[in-house]
Amino acid sequence: MIEVKNVEKSFAGVKILKGVSTVFETGKTNLIIGQSGSGKTVLLKSLLGIHQPESGTISFDGRVYCDLNADEKRELRTEIGMVFQGSALFDSMTVAENVGFPLKMFTHDNNKKIQERVDFVLKRVNLTDAHKKLPSEISGGMQKRVAIARAIVNNPKYLFCDEPNSGLDPNTAILIDNLIKEITEEYNITTVINTHDMNSVMEIGENILFLKDGLKAWEGTKEEIFRTDNEAVVDFVYSSNLFKKVREAYLKD
Ligand SMILES: Nc1ncnc2c1ncn2[C@@H]1O[C@H](COP(=O)(O)OP(=O)(O)O)[C@@H](O)[C@H]1O
Ligand SMILES: [Mg+2]
Repeated sequence: MIEVKNVEKSFAGVKILKGVSTVFETGKTNLIIGQSGSGKTVLLKSLLGIHQPESGTISFDGRVYCDLNADEKRELRTEIGMVFQGSALFDSMTVAENVGFPLKMFTHDNNKKIQERVDFVLKRVNLTDAHKKLPSEISGGMQKRVAIARAIVNNPKYLFCDEPNSGLDPNTAILIDNLIKEITEEYNITTVINTHDMNSVMEIGENILFLKDGLKAWEGTKEEIFRTDNEAVVDFVYSSNLFKKVREAYLKD
């Protein structure tokens, strides 16, 4: 469980996160939604320790990040897997080398052990014969699978994904969403996903935090999001006609 309390973050005197509090639960896909520029990535990077909030606390299963010493922070960092926006694979490394990279960096495992683990996670994301390919030789959906495999190779307790669906066709996007959800449940990971995609909310929105201009404007589940009267949420969700119809259908029963 990750507990975020009153987190504020500014850049050059401009406040971007204006006091955000929430809880991301273990074994669940926790979604951060909101319009472009609402602060989703800044919040995720604050969880990662890339940004230091000027006030508030973030605690990882009771460990308050800003109270940890350098060794404890490094240790915590090895418990986090990250899928960056656009996959961020190393272009000149093969798929297998990309996935094995965190093990080379953070563990003392020998090559044989690394190879076995790489085989296991690539199989888990349903990629069995892409080991020797370069990222440029595989599809966008396969690249996401590689990025997910790399993020989970070190058995993370926490998994952060920034817009894991961007650039994918809707069917592939749903497969990737569900893969992340399955892995979250299977390994009991605390997963946080940034998205502005309502399809993801429908598929995997177990806990949803809605950010607007750096503030928590609403939180709830996917069942609740279609019933809420919160104006900001309604504007965001029903900017597409399809969801207006879904809401009408939901409100009928
Ligand atoms: N490193 C930074 N320096 C200055 N401003 C930033 C930085 N990162 C993000 N911002 C600003 O913070 C706001 C929120 O950005 P971001 O979290 O990336 O939005 P989202 O991910 O919801 O689209 C934007 O106005 C953006 O310009
Ligand atoms: Mg973003």
